[in-house]
Amino acid sequence: MNTNSDKPFEPPYPKPLTSKNKPSLWKLFKLGRKSSLHVLFEGDYKKDVSITKISGYKIFTPKDNGLIKDILKSNYKDFPKHRYMDDILRPLLGDSIFNTNGKTWERQRRIMDIGFEKAGLKNVFSLMCDAVQQMHQRLDSYKDGQAIDIDVEMTHVTADIIMRTILSSPIESDRAFKVFHYFEEYQEKSNSLLMLRLFRLPKWVSLRSYIIWKRRGRQIRNFIGEIIKERHKEFIEKNGETNYGDILEALMDTEDPETKTKFNTKELIDQIVMLFLAGHETSASALSWALYILSNQPEHTEALAAEAQNIFGQNQLPTFRETSKLKKARDIFKETLRLYPPVTQLSREATGKCPVAGHTVAPGTTVNINPWLIHRREKVWENAHAFCPERFSNGESKKNSGSYLPFSQGPRICIGAGFALQEALLILSSITKKYRIKPVSEHTPDPIARLTLRSLNGIKIALVRRDSGIPQEKLFKSAPNETSNSNEECPFNK
Ligand code: HEM
Repeated sequence: MNTNSDKPFEPPYPKPLTSKNKPSLWKLFKLGRKSSLHVLFEGDYKKDVSITKISGYKIFTPKDNGLIKDILKSNYKDFPKHRYMDDILRPLLGDSIFNTNGKTWERQRRIMDIGFEKAGLKNVFSLMCDAVQQMHQRLDSYKDGQAIDIDVEMTHVTADIIMRTILSSPIESDRAFKVFHYFEEYQEKSNSLLMLRLFRLPKWVSLRSYIIWKRRGRQIRNFIGEIIKERHKEFIEKNGETNYGDILEALMDTEDPETKTKFNTKELIDQIVMLFLAGHETSASALSWALYILSNQPEHTEALAAEAQNIFGQNQLPTFRETSKLKKARDIFKETLRLYPPVTQLSREATGKCPVAGHTVAPGTTVNINPWLIHRREKVWENAHAFCPERFSNGESKKNSGSYLPFSQGPRICIGAGFALQEALLILSSITKKYRIKPVSEHTPDPIARLTLRSLNGIKIALVRRDSGIPQEKLFKSAPNETSNSNEECPFNK
């Protein structure tokens, strides 16, 4: 822990491998199964392009601004989503906007853009607030200073937000709770299967994982599918005159201006399952890392609390309009996304012969855009591994905007960036306003990259109510936190 404000705080990251201690292929396979961050070499953080060869595959990882722009913006059609990603996601997502390419993706994107605009952040804001209020009730049931698995709590609240805003169905329901656990297992198995694929091994080498992976994908689709089938039937029977005010309703109501078609029931299931996955895992990851950092940075926590107090005073949550004034909270969230981008790799596949940094990339080559590496380049970012939210107000981030891509860039940029920022502001400002945040003794998270960036040993913090009477100085001198298995009321802990 570093409470010295002169030296910027460097939160944990896996030490890069060096050519001197290069592991064997078998060790690399095992490390890669753990997480792609654990197979990065020192040089990967420095070079403009890294080239990796695995079992005859060539993987290009460009980090230079110009190349990123070429791949994600100017020539994005030449670099569609990688077929391995499609392979890994298809049992769960079907033909969702996240894994399709070409004309299919273009039509889906038009409908989704219009649907999201129709649903409107302002309109779903009150549904978001309902879920955040429920989160506060759960946090209230912890004792002051008790160790909390904050990644579990953040997953709960973001899943709840997404279920309420998309499907008007709170996560408390048994159905939603089960879906959450199936998602977890699906992710875990996906990573193992992706590694098998990279090493040209068939999926049946890990038969158990394969069976569970397939089954979980089907079960999630069935669960969410049931809700959507009922809602779509009702929507058609009532000639579109339903009044849920959620994202599903907006999507059912949207016609593609070019093809004059709407999503059918199967297409709606594909998109909604994808929104659930893309929309809660990512936000939960970023919020957990932000709260971990704040637990080690009391100055920033206090500045956030003062801002919240100043802007929404006696209320528990800010109004929609007030969230736009939470500038410190915004900078802290953005800097967390730089150090811990929830999506650490954007995998693309070259379709034709094309030049990448002086190399001719053959069709079928994997091109990985890696925000984790790009965000930590010493060449670009000052104190690249350190937490310095002021770079988002002093012009540094503006100067380096081409090297900042937590939500990607170009035509396939994340649809939910505004949504994610809104929920993050609500959660960070309301937690810091009510609680001081304290680190948990002897706990250092171990970042791992799977479908999203998580910590192998979880993320723990402790909260102390501001009105508890415990002085601030004492918070950082206290004995090891009472170790507890968190809030037993929380179904996500079972
Ligand atoms: C902190 C939170 C989030 C982060 C960091 C994030 C990041 C990303 C990234 C990097 C991509 C591009 C992936 C690629 O091209 O390979 C993406 C795509 C996408 N995200 Fe997000 N996302 C977040 C939250 C959300 C939310 C809340 C939603 C919806 C409610 C959402 C919906 C989508 C969709 C639909 C796409 C696919 C866009 C397309 O391919 O056209 N995301 N996101």
